[in-house]
Amino acid sequence: MRKPFVAGNWKMNTDSHGAVKLAEGVVSGCGETAGHKVDVAVCPPFVYLQQVGKALHSSHIALGAQDVYFEQKGAFTGEISAAMLKDTGCAYVICGHSERRHVIGETDELINKKVKAALAGGLLPILCVGELLEQREADETADVVSRQLRGGLAGFSEEKVAAITIAYEPVWAIGTGRTATPEQAQEVHAMIRGLLTEMYGKKLSQEIRIQYGGSVKPDNAAELMGKEDVDGVLVGGASLKADDFVAIVKAAV
Ligand code: 13P
Repeated sequence: MRKPFVAGNWKMNTDSHGAVKLAEGVVSGCGETAGHKVDVAVCPPFVYLQQVGKALHSSHIALGAQDVYFEQKGAFTGEISAAMLKDTGCAYVICGHSERRHVIGETDELINKKVKAALAGGLLPILCVGELLEQREADETADVVSRQLRGGLAGFSEEKVAAITIAYEPVWAIGTGRTATPEQAQEVHAMIRGLLTEMYGKKLSQEIRIQYGGSVKPDNAAELMGKEDVDGVLVGGASLKADDFVAIVKAAV
């Protein structure tokens, strides 16, 4: 059985006071649920990682970052290394989020280097994949997701892949209020697990967690996570309200 994994991606939101308040609200709301029955992580902006890490201290809620650079150190102005994230208390890091792919212009090749660097630095990557609306309408979802998955995981041994979480986030569902139906999510998740079976064998593909992301809210989370291959959710907007995020965490149990 795969343990559900719920993560909050705060994106470029909050301020120092609000970030700490939000983290405290999540800690007190989740209580004993987090860590025991469901893995929970929050991913604040880089600049609030330390403060949020302190607020999470003594809880079972993990800290995650929203991005990482693949080089270890040196003249890369503005970038943050895996070692820095680890040093700051991060357990997880999101790689290849659709906003980084489509707004910032990250490629599968770059994302692959980031996932590699994250693993080498002792972090657990959450590799995001997902199609644009026009790609879904042109029936290209399987091709796009497969290319992103194979590209992001290129060169990984079975041993390494076991530490990775995949997040399926259809771009048309992100921040739009238009969630994929549980059936649409399950269809792509099953396809992803099928690809993982082809690439790494059945045993490993059954262990890897696949989160769904895109307009997840307290009222649709349970139904989405009720699907066989939906092992948790990656939450944007609703992770900015402690009560909503806690309700989603509880829906995972
Ligand atoms: P929303 O939940 O706001 O749609 O964002 C999803 C997301 O991008 C999480 O990484």
